[in-house]
Amino acid sequence: MKKRILIVGGTSGVGLELARHYVNDGHTVCITGRHQPNLQGAQFEHFDISADSNQLTRDIDKLLTQFEGINTLIYSAGFRQRGHIDELVDTDILQMMNTGLTAPTLLVQRLKNKLETPLKVMLITSKSQYDACEYEPVYSAVKAGLGMFGASLVKDMAIGKVLVAAPAGINTPFWDGSDKDRSGMLEAKWVSDKIVELSSGVFKYKYAKILRNPERVEVQEMLDNELKPIVSTHSS
Ligand SMILES: NC(=O)c1ccc[n+]([C@@H]2O[C@H](COP(=O)([O-])OP(=O)(O)OC[C@H]3O[C@@H](n4cnc5c(N)ncnc54)[C@H](OP(=O)(O)O)[C@@H]3O)[C@@H](O)[C@H]2O)c1
Repeated sequence: MKKRILIVGGTSGVGLELARHYVNDGHTVCITGRHQPNLQGAQFEHFDISADSNQLTRDIDKLLTQFEGINTLIYSAGFRQRGHIDELVDTDILQMMNTGLTAPTLLVQRLKNKLETPLKVMLITSKSQYDACEYEPVYSAVKAGLGMFGASLVKDMAIGKVLVAAPAGINTPFWDGSDKDRSGMLEAKWVSDKIVELSSGVFKYKYAKILRNPERVEVQEMLDNELKPIVSTHSS
């Protein structure tokens, strides 16, 4: 079945690779972000996730009038933020909270039960979801929160499949402006391919780590439609 897929954070990196895949596969895709990547075949909507929650709710409502009939939400928006908690100013914290957690929760709240078929949700978290970093306190918190948001949605039978994908370091513009050594990082296309593979098949919930050195996927949890475990651990 061809789908209408909203990819928030689809203008760059993993989200853009996912958009390329789903466009090539014949789906109707809308990508959002602040920069237009001119991806042929995809609708682009400018959606600047604000640190101001009132602005954010208005912008989300507007976005959802610009692309309707969404069967699948892919949430890939995120950005790098470094600093001990006292080194971050209020807007830094609110920006990370809104980008990592408020926006995806408001989107699912608005998209649930809008169609006859249940909404499919794919959330890109991070290794920081389960492996806390000293200099990423708010990033780690929102990624852990996003993972638990997905795990909780699974128990709602009016929600469709939920995939939580937690990748390790990926060579994308996420690292622009940092002196981090990107050699040995995962490639965005490879990560995207793994996310597509993970999202296929019959399941209600899948939580997977996408790891490097060596590159591999480890499915941490997979549940069927009755929330019974399908496998506990699997690598590929
Ligand atoms: N790269 C890594 O090492 C790594 C590792 C683990 C997890 N992740 C996660 O993977 C996801 C994808 O990251 P990536 O590596 O593909 O990074 P990326 O190339 O920088 O892409 C990030 C996306 O998020 C969007 N975005 C960020 N802040 C935004 C804002 N305030 N308003 C609107 N859109 C915003 C960007 O859009 P615009 O630039 O067009 O605004 C872009 O489409 C993120 O959630 C990231 O946290 C990345």
